[in-house]
Amino acid sequence: MCVQPIVDVSPTKWHLAHTTWFFENFILVNFLKGYKVFDKDYCYLFNSYYNSVGDRVMRFNRGNMTRPSIEKVFDYRRYVNHHINNLFEYGEQPEWLSLVELGINHEQQHQELLITDIKYILGNNPLFPAFHEFKNINSNIDLRLNFLPVSEGVYSIGHSDENAFCFDNEKGDHKVFLHGFQVSNRLITNGEYIEFINENGYGDFRHWLADGWDWVNENKVTAPLYWKFVEGEWFTYDLSGFIKINPDEPVTHTSFYEADAFARWRGKRLPTEFEWEVASNQYCQKEVADNFLDAGFLKPLRSSGEIQLTGEAWQWTNSAYLPYPFYKMAKGAIGEYNGKFMVNQMVLRGGSCATPKNHYRNTYRNFFQPDKRWQFTGIRLAEHI
Ligand SMILES: [Fe+2]
Repeated sequence: MCVQPIVDVSPTKWHLAHTTWFFENFILVNFLKGYKVFDKDYCYLFNSYYNSVGDRVMRFNRGNMTRPSIEKVFDYRRYVNHHINNLFEYGEQPEWLSLVELGINHEQQHQELLITDIKYILGNNPLFPAFHEFKNINSNIDLRLNFLPVSEGVYSIGHSDENAFCFDNEKGDHKVFLHGFQVSNRLITNGEYIEFINENGYGDFRHWLADGWDWVNENKVTAPLYWKFVEGEWFTYDLSGFIKINPDEPVTHTSFYEADAFARWRGKRLPTEFEWEVASNQYCQKEVADNFLDAGFLKPLRSSGEIQLTGEAWQWTNSAYLPYPFYKMAKGAIGEYNGKFMVNQMVLRGGSCATPKNHYRNTYRNFFQPDKRWQFTGIRLAEHI
């Protein structure tokens, strides 16, 4: 629970303490009369990136915190839970209720990070320990790649339901004009990605953006993260251990550069985040979202029916992460939640097998730098019509 193999991956213990700190620092300290913080050092230890809140342990040092112990962190969680319950006993107040909702959604984001970070930790252990056994996945699925057309027009983008939660970066619905386009009905599979590898995809500069080509060469990248070529066959780590790659499952752990290069090699491109949202609204109705055959937008191509840790993936879009036209950064520390990251990152849409189920939304904007691939990130294709 303390290991931090790379700067992007936070220790389990840190996630547990940081999500607790969020409730303590933004809610209890400000709104529960007479509240005493659990430990005055914790704000320094578990503040992630809020400059408004003050100094903190640098991200790359999170794995050095062998203290407090995990027992102490669980005590901290119990203490904060108890006081959040106390707060509710005084009656709900709108000024903190929305922060509780934000705190819950924030914790859900960290639940996903917990899984992806544990995968990175175990997947880089030479013994490849299993985190969880998976049932064999139903393979009786039509895998044909089709394209779903969307007509040219002016469309509404963004979150408009005032009664449902969303992050500030989704707010301010606005109009975009889209030329006619079509998107693939499912994500690209491992088998299709292996064709790209076999046809020297990683060795041909013509498929790659300049930064991507530099990234491939500097890092000697020859396959998605976790893939290993052993005695003529591709293997990967998938949280059940070191396994032979299933060609029918969606390819995951690709960077934006790889997704973009693959699309170019196939004579297609990635959808923009606006195309993704409009196509998803059109082809993936809420009522049928549980049926992944509907279009596979928010659900896996193949479902294990239990914890689904293989399959579903966030989808890279060809859109830079930028503010929507009416975006307003919240005042104070909460304004630092999303807004300050709107540079040098690409938007991902959908959700992954590690995303809590009630966290999916068609308007959800995830974002990462183009070289990041420790999240469950996959590829959907698009083209103009
Ligand atoms: Fe956080």
